[in-house]
Amino acid sequence: MKILLVGSGGREHALGVGLQADPACTELHVAPGNPGIAQFAKCHPLVITDNQAILELAQQLHIDLVVVGPEVPLVNGVADLLRAAGIAVFGPSKAAAQLEGSKNFAKEVMRDAGVPTAHSFTCTTQHEIEIALDAFDAPYVVKDDGLAAGKGVVVTNDRQEALEHALACKRVVIEEYLDGPEVSLFGISDGTTIVPMQPAQDFKRALDGDQGPNTGGMGAYSPLPWAPSDIIEDTYKQVLAPMIAEMAARGTPFVGLLYAGLALTDHGTRVIEFNARFGDPETQVLIPLLKTPLATLLYKAATKNLNGTTLEWKEDSAVTVVLAAEGYPATPKSGGAITGFSSIDNVQIYHAGTSATEQGVVASGGRVVTVTGIGEDLTEARNRAYRAISQIRLAGSFYRTDIALNASVAEKGN
Ligand code: AMP
Ligand code: GLY
Repeated sequence: MKILLVGSGGREHALGVGLQADPACTELHVAPGNPGIAQFAKCHPLVITDNQAILELAQQLHIDLVVVGPEVPLVNGVADLLRAAGIAVFGPSKAAAQLEGSKNFAKEVMRDAGVPTAHSFTCTTQHEIEIALDAFDAPYVVKDDGLAAGKGVVVTNDRQEALEHALACKRVVIEEYLDGPEVSLFGISDGTTIVPMQPAQDFKRALDGDQGPNTGGMGAYSPLPWAPSDIIEDTYKQVLAPMIAEMAARGTPFVGLLYAGLALTDHGTRVIEFNARFGDPETQVLIPLLKTPLATLLYKAATKNLNGTTLEWKEDSAVTVVLAAEGYPATPKSGGAITGFSSIDNVQIYHAGTSATEQGVVASGGRVVTVTGIGEDLTEARNRAYRAISQIRLAGSFYRTDIALNASVAEKGN
């Protein structure tokens, strides 16, 4: 099977490694890819917002399966275009990708499907915004309805800041604050059957101790030794299965990766958000742990053949740490030379925001590389990830030093 993977981040690097490892994958092409992916797959320059260019590339290469990494092409409808041309796609249609593209749409589907989430108001006027803010106490949670590249959500105790963010959005969802640990739990769906993956935890804030601004994610780990033993079953029943059934009933089946961002509150599981694609950097811990061949799995999902599939996982733990460029997330500095990539057993270095130049590999994005350590437990996995990342040199770069720290301490205490 010839596969075209769309995207260029750490998530795509990890997916590429997973796809390539499946003997069913005879050729792997990536558009546009990055210097890390170029070490093992053929990369094709392309602008990922150009649906037509993606279709033409897939046709020219006689691709059997397109796997779409990032949300923007999905929300732009690239999957519809490819499917109309008879090409199997792992990734939802434009209509189904609205679960990520519009917070209000996701709330409506959750309401109709009976999926537990925060109480919310969708507002378009200052009057409605003021009423909504008054309905909830601080901390205020204010979400831009549309895609905002990770900058759409403000959680603050400052009512004025909440109001200003809300007024800056065309349409805004204001919701109840959910207290409790956050978990990312993904389901792989063929439109009617959804197969849950094991949970991961992401670290959204830029700095240690969950300080600093929200980011795309600074690190992740899996599995979660502290999570309730029935978390997968419970999330499947309460969230994933009803969402897939509701989307199918609406005539817009969701084919692809349904990302459930959950808060485990004292009152039970609540959905914080959905994404319509693999999470970044959660994918960088899940793919190295997945034993089930990835290309075959995603092809089954793309061709409505998931019924009866269960996933097999390694017993190991994985921890990933993101090396971010100076100034990330507000104003990441690009162009700096990156050195110190070493080859360490049980460590995978995934390129994210890097470019190849005549002078070597340089930074070209906010999240520059993601380093995953694998080990028998979280402590061993962490130690490996941190040993490898500490050797990478990029002037001004930084990384969090507390990824999976609490979980590894708790695991040792058990
Ligand atoms: P999102 O872009 O929806 O993932 O939101 C970004 C982050 O904001 C989440 O990972 C949470 O940490 C936080 N957040 C979003 N919604 C809520 C909520 N209702 N209560 C508490 N925190 C939230
Ligand atoms: N790690 C969060 C995301 O992928 O949206």
